[in-house]
Amino acid sequence: MSVLLYLLVSSFGLLLIGSEGLAQDSSEDQANGQGIYETHCLRCHGSNGEGNGPDASTLTVPPTNFQSVESRMKSDLDLRSAVVWGLAFSPMHQWFDKLTPQEMRAVVQYIRQIAPFEATAH
Ligand code: HEC
Repeated sequence: MSVLLYLLVSSFGLLLIGSEGLAQDSSEDQANGQGIYETHCLRCHGSNGEGNGPDASTLTVPPTNFQSVESRMKSDLDLRSAVVWGLAFSPMHQWFDKLTPQEMRAVVQYIRQIAPFEATAH
């Protein structure tokens, strides 16, 4: 259900932004993703995504370490839906009402730049 809603919201976003999907410059995207990450995410997830940002110690649930194998094995869609919808009973709240679909895509792309996807656990 939430995946369906997510697809609905993201395709609605695509309509709003027009040819966003076609005209994307990936280097520009990553720079943008980095800026978004540093503004909104770094305080919990840390500059290298290890879950050790300055606010991490104040949280009841530790922020995800994106460098962990468990996190690297997640698909972009998994990560993106955590960003869009947030996680239940967690300080990780939803961002769909604060960031555009393009920004959420860019920030996930940035996470994958600092902590690349790995298909299997070692
Ligand atoms: C207030 C602190 C806080 C902020 C700010 C924050 N997060 Fe999180 N995030 C968390 C916590 C805590 C978790 C782990 C939640 C859990 O395990 O229940 C998490 C989990 C996640 C996950 C799930 C990862 C996985 O492997 O399942 C993603 C993706 C994520 N955050 C991305 C982001 C992005 C992108 C931003 C900025 C737009 C952001 N977070 C901002 C605290 C934060």
